[in-house]
Amino acid sequence: MGLIVVSNREPYAPHSREDGGLDWVPSIGGLTAALDPALQHAGGTWIAWGEAHPDVAEVQLPQHDPRYCLQRLRLSDAEVRDFYHGFSNRALWPMSHYFIERTRYDASAWQTYVAVNRRFAEATVTAYREGDTIWVHDYQLALVPRMIREMLPGASIGFFWHIPWPSTEVFRTLPWDRELLDGMLGADLIGMHTHDYVRYFQAACRRALDADTDEGTVYWQGRTSRVVARPIGIEVDAYEELSSRPDVEDEADRIRRTVQTQILLGVDRLDYTKGIPERLEAFDAYLDRHPEARGKVTLVQIAVPSREQVDSYRQLRARVEGLVGRINGKHTHSGWSPIQYIYRGVGREELVAHYRAADVMLVTPLRDGLNLVAKEFTACSRDGALILSRFAGAADEMREALQVNPYNPGGLAEALQVALNMPLEEKKARLHRLRERLHASDLRSWADEFVEEIRTP
Ligand code: ADP
Ligand code: G6P
Repeated sequence: MGLIVVSNREPYAPHSREDGGLDWVPSIGGLTAALDPALQHAGGTWIAWGEAHPDVAEVQLPQHDPRYCLQRLRLSDAEVRDFYHGFSNRALWPMSHYFIERTRYDASAWQTYVAVNRRFAEATVTAYREGDTIWVHDYQLALVPRMIREMLPGASIGFFWHIPWPSTEVFRTLPWDRELLDGMLGADLIGMHTHDYVRYFQAACRRALDADTDEGTVYWQGRTSRVVARPIGIEVDAYEELSSRPDVEDEADRIRRTVQTQILLGVDRLDYTKGIPERLEAFDAYLDRHPEARGKVTLVQIAVPSREQVDSYRQLRARVEGLVGRINGKHTHSGWSPIQYIYRGVGREELVAHYRAADVMLVTPLRDGLNLVAKEFTACSRDGALILSRFAGAADEMREALQVNPYNPGGLAEALQVALNMPLEEKKARLHRLRERLHASDLRSWADEFVEEIRTP
């Protein structure tokens, strides 16, 4: 009885070495960050799109201590354009994050989305052995549960939607709303991060499909699917251990000495949902209001490039770089610049050293399914303060964070002032309570319990 994980993004991407070999480097993003340790623990098969070096069809991972088998699907350029950049990231992603004005609902991209979902479903059925549990992930593969169900009526199939589920009025803008819901309802168990997403999903099933629902269940075409809120956790012990390792502490000290002021930290994929321009503008407003803070606080923003083929992402990059230049140009004084902008992904140690060095963590998305960065910082920080958007799914569980409305630059600037001046004991007490909750539902229990729930009718 094995586990088959199915997602679009693969957990590690191959990079060529000089000696001709390949290094498998962790992919950046919430889904893979969560599922890789889960599958390392459970063992099994992971099916995903092989982006670089598509000729490699199968590999055992992680490279130096293999625990599971990655099977890689080769997609054509046209499939990548229409399925991944097109329908997934120009239609479903902006729609689900309430950015209707950025959506492009293109019928031929939809056709490719259907065809590529079928390819993932067929690969899963080929890998399937009697008694396996199948766990499909995220918005790129919403039709896969139904397609597998048609080929394997008795299989145990779970599905996790990692991004927000929007209110019904927004979901109704999708021309293929019925098809998408029907696809997901091929699963026995559907998971989301918050109760609100579950409620909106059930409302969509009633409205678009005329399906019956009751507490946690959708009845559709003679089958039932359970729908549950199961916010993902992190490997909290691993983050705690890493953050107090001497070399990571040294690196955190080095960061503090280099920056020389209090540190505000932002860590995101460069995505318009993350509220990065709004964060920079709020920091600018803060410096205008608090001239005494100039030279005493620096915003370190680490942004990893993401989905650069999509116009919205290229425009965002230009906007962020313009803002960094403008704000630094305005406030730089006597060798101090207010913003340090790092445009790349950083490795786990360097990331954790930054969390450890930060006085205030800024997690201010305009909309986010959950947000793992908020949880990672909480596990790593000794005495920092967390500012968290009320529009991140994690806000439901993280009441002790300073919660803000990212659309209100004045409110965000005020929260900065509160966080930078919060008494040490209060910061520690808030972190302590947040961390207790991280321990109570960590990544392993999230994954183990979800798989168990898929298997339990
Ligand atoms: P999303 O799923 O939208 O990417 P999350 O915050 O849930 O957002 O997850 C992002 C994951 O990617 C986290 O594990 C975080 O540590 C990692 N990450 C984000 N930005 C960077 C970066 N610039 N460098 C390294 N890791 C990053
Ligand atoms: C979010 C999505 C994931 C996705 C990740 C990175 O976490 O929920 O499905 O893998 O972002 O985005 P990418 O487009 O690079 O896979």
